[in-house]
Amino acid sequence: MKVVLVSPDQSEINLLNGQTAANMDFTGIQGDCQEVRPAIERHQPDVLVVDGVFDENSKFEQLEKTIVAYPGMAVILLAKNLTPEFLLHMMRMGVTEVLPKPVTGAVLKESIERAGLRLKGVQKTSARRQGKILAMVGCKGGSGVTFLASNLGYAIASTDPNQRVILIDLNLQGGDAELFVSDGRSVSNVASIAAEINRLDGTLLETSLVRVLPNYGVLAAAQDTHEAFSVKPDHVSQLIEVAAKNYDLVILDLPRSLDPVTVRALDRASEIYIVVQMTLPFIRDAKKLLGDYRALGYGPDKLRLIINRYEKEPDITVKDVQHTLGMPVYRTVPNSYKNVATSVNQGIPIAKLAPRDPVTRTLLEMADLFRQSGAVPSSKSWLSSLTSR
Ligand SMILES: Nc1ncnc2c1ncn2[C@@H]1O[C@H](COP(=O)(O)OP(=O)(O)OP(=O)(O)O)[C@@H](O)[C@H]1O
Ligand SMILES: [Mg+2]
Repeated sequence: MKVVLVSPDQSEINLLNGQTAANMDFTGIQGDCQEVRPAIERHQPDVLVVDGVFDENSKFEQLEKTIVAYPGMAVILLAKNLTPEFLLHMMRMGVTEVLPKPVTGAVLKESIERAGLRLKGVQKTSARRQGKILAMVGCKGGSGVTFLASNLGYAIASTDPNQRVILIDLNLQGGDAELFVSDGRSVSNVASIAAEINRLDGTLLETSLVRVLPNYGVLAAAQDTHEAFSVKPDHVSQLIEVAAKNYDLVILDLPRSLDPVTVRALDRASEIYIVVQMTLPFIRDAKKLLGDYRALGYGPDKLRLIINRYEKEPDITVKDVQHTLGMPVYRTVPNSYKNVATSVNQGIPIAKLAPRDPVTRTLLEMADLFRQSGAVPSSKSWLSSLTSR
């Protein structure tokens, strides 16, 4: 991997060169923003590292032009004064990562390696087939949709680094999916993408995600009601289209309301997973929701039922649920209060926090099921990777 660092400070170049350069083709160039373009032309780097020279507002435009001119190159910026506005601006410009100064060689090296991984992913995606789009929705608040969607994404991505997975939180008012599997605050979200929909491509989408794994990220929901209203059905169509072109699996966390944005997303999904629990209020609401979905033309090939927090109930059986709702139960997910609550409270995926929890096992089995059914391409059995640990 070819790496070029442009910095006004020769001692910084020497330091970072010494600490970072092993296994990399590393070139340090002393200079400011004027040097960046000639350096790229001369060295054709895979990863460009720019030190601080673009901190001033007037230099943004110059950097943006350079980034646009070299779409296959990752850009890492080292900068002081990282305000959320500055970060957002950088991400929108297509900067791969911004590191706060002073930066150590170890941190820079990790960032370069991450950028290399992403680059491989982005390059691979240009010839990629259309990714699969799965929607998940609850028939009632608190069914467990966000927990299942975010953790299923993690389970798939963590057991197969070849799968690029994205979770899009389309609970436009008050979604919080990124917090289920990370402690990261988002600098971008569905509404900021909608505001720049004409610039949206794989790179902008990738840099807008809250990163959970190198091959798994979450696009956060809009942050307030005003933002939420700015997202229109056409934005969502375009967003899902770009996501499907750049990821193997697109998981949509959807609200149960049938507003135009949600219906547009449901239309685009090839499968809709409806999450219920084994009590009458959930089952009553599931019946209503299924009626609405059938009226929208979604047939049995598209609809799948998941019973979450399943415990053997003397009053209601799986058979009763299937009979009442007129469809088979695709999967039951066990109730595991303690580990799930800890996972959700700490923002740590349950497969990482509690690898032997029954819920983890079920998520891994579901991913295998997805693979077998062609929902995601298969390269390795999750179950075997779990049991061989
Ligand atoms: N299998 C499970 N076992 C135990 N607890 C669970 C399980 N699944 C989800 N929960 C708990 O249920 C709570 C609600 O889950 P979650 O927020 O995912 O539901 P939701 O359907 O997305 O809700 P909302 O309608 O608010 O978006 C979580 O805080 C979690 O602690
Ligand atoms: Mg939710």
